[in-house]
Amino acid sequence: MRTQVGIVGAGPAGLVLAHLLHLHGIESVIVEDRSREYCEHRIRAGVLEQGTADLLIETGVGERLLGERLLHHGIELRFEGRTHRVDFADLTGHAVTVYGQHEVVKDLIAARLAAGLPILFETAALGVEAIDGPAPRIRIRGPDGRDDAIDCDFVAGCDGFRGVCRAAVPAGAITAYERVYPYAWLGILAEAPPSSDELIYTSHERGFALLSMRSPELSRLYIQVSPEDDIAAWPDARIWEEMHRRFAAPEEGWSLTEGPILQKGITAMRSFVAEPMRFGRLFLAGDAAHIVPPTGAKGMNLAVADVRVLARALDAFYGRGRTDLLNAYSEACLRRVWRVQHFSWWMTQMLHRDPAGNPFDRRRQLAELEGVVASRAVAQALAENYVGLPFE
Ligand code: DHB
Repeated sequence: MRTQVGIVGAGPAGLVLAHLLHLHGIESVIVEDRSREYCEHRIRAGVLEQGTADLLIETGVGERLLGERLLHHGIELRFEGRTHRVDFADLTGHAVTVYGQHEVVKDLIAARLAAGLPILFETAALGVEAIDGPAPRIRIRGPDGRDDAIDCDFVAGCDGFRGVCRAAVPAGAITAYERVYPYAWLGILAEAPPSSDELIYTSHERGFALLSMRSPELSRLYIQVSPEDDIAAWPDARIWEEMHRRFAAPEEGWSLTEGPILQKGITAMRSFVAEPMRFGRLFLAGDAAHIVPPTGAKGMNLAVADVRVLARALDAFYGRGRTDLLNAYSEACLRRVWRVQHFSWWMTQMLHRDPAGNPFDRRRQLAELEGVVASRAVAQALAENYVGLPFE
């Protein structure tokens, strides 16, 4: 099999890249080891920066998004039982879109298949070879167990944190920067109308809690737990009890609406960056190159930002024989990646309970939160990052 760009992974990075390349007239093949069904139901975050939503709309895959999305013009910060709004419209003139990542994935898969373009589902990428030369190759194993290969000009490694692409870079050619957090998120999807029109980020003595949503009927909620916690130790009643405690705002007459829990799971949290994001003809994008902790919902947005840069660089190469943008890819992405790493870390440490922290740390944290709501300048810094940094 031969193509111009071999893409490993059909998550947001791989699918958006394939879509943009197609619009530029560049051929690609996507290899994905999971099934279509799995990809379309893998629940992840659901907040799109304005630039991410605009890109999907402007490139023709935003029709369902426009009909179903919830536009949010601010978020709420809750601490010490009181709620403070951060008004994005006023502070930035922008908004964010609440629309599940798996819905974005569904829309992109549908568009690609409707155009008759290839996604090889249930096909494992066994490895990538010859990435330091002009003719890299992806070795694959199809659903029938037969081995094959894709010869291409470039490989896009969009296969996530544990994928084969980053692992194909020789040791020593890549530096990893990492931080693992001493907490995790227990997330639920509940059949309950959201108890708030906007997201509520809560910092409580007992730990962080977040109220989000997927539709007027579906709530998405998270609480900080220990990374050692087993989901079996969290029966539904215990989850709701903990949520009620953390979201409590007794003076505001607010209450949390419960409903049947449709899905639940625990996710560990880390910050990670691999530098550079390119080795020879292998380009890493999205979680294959970097992981952010979930606070602020930047993962998918950062993946889309990477492939926007990559698609433009590949277009300059195929259209005009230019290699300068390919050579600048890693550096161009990493500037944004590190800004977003800082923001995600900042939101995380400001809102979570540090299990090793002491009363001083809690007081300092509350002062930091007070600073956000008391100062327009600090609130604006949060808002600018949350709605998304401008594209270069
Ligand atoms: C959601 C996830 C996040 O990490 C976040 O910061 C906000 C919302 C969500 O899943 O809806």
